[in-house]
Amino acid sequence: TAVRSIPAPQGLPVLGNTLQIPAHAPAAFLEKLAAEHDEGIYQLDLLGRRVLFVSDPDLVAELCDETRFYKGIDPPLSIVRDFAGDGLFTAHHDEPVWGHAHRILMPAFSQRSMKAYFPQMLEVAQELAAKWAVSDEVSVADDMTRLTLDTISLTGFDYRFNSFDSPELHPFLQAMGRALTEAMLRNRQLPLVTKLKKRREEAYRADILTMQELVDDVIRQRRAAGRSGTKDLLGLMLEAADPRSGERLSDENIRDQVLTFLIAGHETTSGLLSFALYNLLRNPHVLARAYAEVDRLLPGDTVPTYDTVMKLDVIPRILEETLRIWSPIPAFAVKSFEDTTVGGYPVREGQPAVVLLPPLHRHPKAWDRPEEFDIDRWLPENRAGHHPAAYKPFGNGERACIGRQFALTEARLALAVILQRFAISDPDAYRMEIKQTLTVKPDGFTVRVRERKPYE
Ligand code: HEM
Repeated sequence: TAVRSIPAPQGLPVLGNTLQIPAHAPAAFLEKLAAEHDEGIYQLDLLGRRVLFVSDPDLVAELCDETRFYKGIDPPLSIVRDFAGDGLFTAHHDEPVWGHAHRILMPAFSQRSMKAYFPQMLEVAQELAAKWAVSDEVSVADDMTRLTLDTISLTGFDYRFNSFDSPELHPFLQAMGRALTEAMLRNRQLPLVTKLKKRREEAYRADILTMQELVDDVIRQRRAAGRSGTKDLLGLMLEAADPRSGERLSDENIRDQVLTFLIAGHETTSGLLSFALYNLLRNPHVLARAYAEVDRLLPGDTVPTYDTVMKLDVIPRILEETLRIWSPIPAFAVKSFEDTTVGGYPVREGQPAVVLLPPLHRHPKAWDRPEEFDIDRWLPENRAGHHPAAYKPFGNGERACIGRQFALTEARLALAVILQRFAISDPDAYRMEIKQTLTVKPDGFTVRVRERKPYE
């Protein structure tokens, strides 16, 4: 069969297409290129690496075949390894420690564990509600970040950030935001240039240290408490052995995992919740259905239970549709085990191929009215007709998100609590501005909140 040639926009010698990518908005640029290439695949030369960018669902289906492709750890993920090390997210695919940690931690993400975390998830959601009850305008992304950071740290590590007590975001978050941004910038920088920027390097190292100090404090507090048998993330990491190999995690690996979970466990869910509120404000008929659902399941000042959250139907579909239109993680990358072709296009062994989620999730081949926010796509009878590879907000295969159920349980509860108690509006009609720090979020999005009912 004929080998097809992959569209490749012209670049410069040595630097290739690198400098065409805007430093602070790579995702938007890559998405624009996808729109310009109907083939659903194109190639960029990034500092000598020929990287494929794929958004056609049939091609993505091939890339999701784990017998042919594995998760690639290239820039920016290889740079994130500066602070997340061998943690689950950034572990190389052939590292045995990935399997040890994956099997040790799986029980902490079972449905049963979600039920066990519920009281703590509720406690943090109620702190958000308490703050909003005395607020007028709230900064959505900041408060969602407080909510999700406090939730993962309390449920996973029994550690309290108490983020709602403070008008400033915790120093850990500032360090993390800067470090992730730096990893994104270094992705398009020659290593030589990175070396020359001494001041940036110092600031980067200082931010990493700030994050590591917090991680050490989390572990120290647990050891000082001297409780054994705790089945949260940290308890499992400190005490459990891999059921297959009998291996335990090293102290260094535990540090990598704690930092990984502190970041991966809040940054994306915070984006999801922020985008969800945005979508609700843009689609008042859906907002009305969500209010009707919470009024039915949570009348008056009923306190939500785990069972209430399991009974929700409209809110979970709002979240699924939000993840389609706005994926907090806009891409993931795989590599081929050997020279091959994908849809007739040649792919070399080890060549990075990036799955671009925004154009995949709106691909006309897979989605009717792709730009429309339509939660009924997620009714059981409509799901059956979905293209099998056109929706990948949590990644793929064994390297897919371990925290998916955690994120969805937490986000369902948070939206239910918010809608039960508050009328939300945005009198200034916010226009979407994406801020990217590897993950994407709405920037400067504020909403007005009013209590729906008087509480004692
Ligand atoms: C992996 C998305 C929430 C922990 C991933 C990946 C995606 C993703 C796309 C795969 C990345 C890749 O292939 O390079 C999301 C989204 C979330 C979310 C959209 C929220 C809406 C969470 C939460 C946790 C978490 C709450 C922890 C409690 C992880 C970890 C991995 C991962 C540890 C690496 C898994 C592995 O490779 O073994 N996530 N995530 N995520 N996520 Fe999530």
